[in-house]
Amino acid sequence: MRKKLVAGNWKMHGNLVENKQLLSAIVAGLDGLLNVQFVVCVPYPYFSSVQSVLQGTNIAWGAQNVSQYEKGAYTGEISVSMLNDFKCSYVIVGHSERRTLFFESSLIVAEKFAAAQRVGLTPILCVGETLEQRETGMTEQIIEEQLSAVVNLAGVESLNKAVIAYEPIWAIGTGKTASPQQAQDVHAFIRKGVAARNMSVAQDLTILYGGSVKANNASELFAMPDIDGGLIGGASLVSSDFIAICRALHN
Ligand code: 13P
Repeated sequence: MRKKLVAGNWKMHGNLVENKQLLSAIVAGLDGLLNVQFVVCVPYPYFSSVQSVLQGTNIAWGAQNVSQYEKGAYTGEISVSMLNDFKCSYVIVGHSERRTLFFESSLIVAEKFAAAQRVGLTPILCVGETLEQRETGMTEQIIEEQLSAVVNLAGVESLNKAVIAYEPIWAIGTGKTASPQQAQDVHAFIRKGVAARNMSVAQDLTILYGGSVKANNASELFAMPDIDGGLIGGASLVSSDFIAICRALHN
């Protein structure tokens, strides 16, 4: 059975007071919804306080990035076992902001993916094309390159314990959402690419859409057959919006 998931990516937003208000509203708003999984991916310093609010609820927490290295002299980095210490369940790897602004190659992303799985964390692997790549007909080639880096390093079965998020870069934070059909086409392409390697892994693979998902467009995106949920940026910071998006997937 393919799991349905809504993940919030807070990016570099929030503070102790705001986080508590946001989380308590979300906890109340999602109480009792059981057939969808929810997760918030928060900045590192807040793990402890987020853990204390969310433990025992139906909302998991995770990180937005992690080091590919186990431990050592890597100033400023955070390891997978540190995430485990705070009972994180998920970690985003390969977000386009990391690939573009922090020069993470597909190989580095694959190493982070594998490191996360070694300690039982579920990686949320982001893939997606720029506007220029889409306009020059390169979308599928880019997605395949990003996906195959992970499959080559970790094996296709690694996707049994992972989530993929298709996030077209031109739709992130721009208010320009991919149309449901545009998103569906890429999701179907991803699933087909995985199916060519292993059919049952493909059938069970959760593929999220991310990029300007809002309360007013979530339902039509989630209605597409290969869209299993969302990775939500801006709207995950507004409790009523995030709750509405989560409920759109639940219905
Ligand atoms: P927005 O929802 O703000 O477009 O961000 C999407 C995203 O990057 C989630 O990881």
